[in-house]
Amino acid sequence: MDWMGVTCAEDMTSKIPMALMWICFATGCWKYAQWAYWLLLQLFCNCRCLCKANLSKYRRNKVKDDGTWAVITGGSDGIGFELCKQMADQGFNTVMMARNQDKMDVRVKELSESYPDVQHASVKVDFSKLKSMQEYRDLISKGLDGKDVGFVALNAGLGRAGSNHKIPDSALEEVMTVNTLHVVFMAKIFLEMMMKREQKSAMVFVSSIASRMVFPGWASYSATKAFVTNLGNSVYYEVKDKVDVLVWTPGVIKTAFAENFT
Ligand SMILES: NC(=O)c1ccc[n+]([C@@H]2O[C@H](COP(=O)([O-])OP(=O)(O)OC[C@H]3O[C@@H](n4cnc5c(N)ncnc54)[C@H](OP(=O)(O)O)[C@@H]3O)[C@@H](O)[C@H]2O)c1
Repeated sequence: MDWMGVTCAEDMTSKIPMALMWICFATGCWKYAQWAYWLLLQLFCNCRCLCKANLSKYRRNKVKDDGTWAVITGGSDGIGFELCKQMADQGFNTVMMARNQDKMDVRVKELSESYPDVQHASVKVDFSKLKSMQEYRDLISKGLDGKDVGFVALNAGLGRAGSNHKIPDSALEEVMTVNTLHVVFMAKIFLEMMMKREQKSAMVFVSSIASRMVFPGWASYSATKAFVTNLGNSVYYEVKDKVDVLVWTPGVIKTAFAENFT
C-alpha cells in the first residue's frame, strides 16, 4: 500500500504543473480570441463608416446654381441640424424650417462656411400655429418658391413630461399640432410634388422609440409618435415606386430635447 501511496503522490505532483500549464494556455487562447474579435469588430465598424450612403440618385443634375434641395423641419438644432450637414455633404442645397430666426441665421452661416458648394436657406415657421392644409400650402409655395425638392425630413417635434391629465392645455395642443399635423400635412404636400419628379425622392419620418412603448408620463408624446410611425409605414407602400420612405425610431439622443428626460 505504501508503495502505491508514494507512486500516486509522485504521479499527482508531476501532473499539477502540467495542468497549470494547460490552464494558462487556455486562458491565453481565450484572451487572444477576445482581442481578435474586438479587432475584427473595430475593422468592420470603421469600414462601414467609410462606406457612407450615396444619395445622389435623389438629386437632379445640377444646372448652374439650381440644384436639388433637402428640406429639414426643425433643422436648426439637434438631430435636424445634423441632418442638414449630412445632406449638404451629399451635395444637396438645404432648407431648414424652425421658429427662431436668429438661431437659423447662425446655423445657415455655419453650413455655408462648412459646405460652400451648395446653397443654404431657412424658412421661419411655428408649426403649432398652422392648422389647415391651405396654411401649409401657402407656407411651402412662399418658402420654397418652385425649388426642386428631392429629400424631406419631417423632424420638428417636441414632448412634454407629465401625466396627460396634468399637463397644461397649451402644452398638449402644441405637442399634438407640431408632432402630428405638421407631419401629415407636410408629407401630403411634398409627396404630391415628389410623385411628379423624374428622379426618385426620399422622405424621412423622424418618429421615436416611444412610438412602440407604453410610456406613462409621456403618454401624449408617445401617442403622437405612434401616429408618425404608423403614417410613415403605410405611406411607404403608397409611394414606393417614386419615393423611398424611411420611418426612423431613435432612442435617446443627447440634444436640447433630451434634457426634458432628466
Ligand atoms: N433627442 C432624442 O432623444 C429623441 C429621441 C427620439 C426621437 N426624437 C425626435 O427627434 C426630433 C428632433 O428632436 P431633437 O432632439 O433634435 O430636438 P431639438 O434639439 O429640441 O430640436 C428641435 C427642433 O425643432 C424645432 N421646433 C420645435 N418646435 C417647433 C415649432 N413649433 N415650429 C417649428 N419648429 C419647431 C426647433 O426649432 P426652434 O428652436 O426654432 O424652435 C429645433 O430646430 C423630434 O421629432 C423628436 O421627437 C428625439
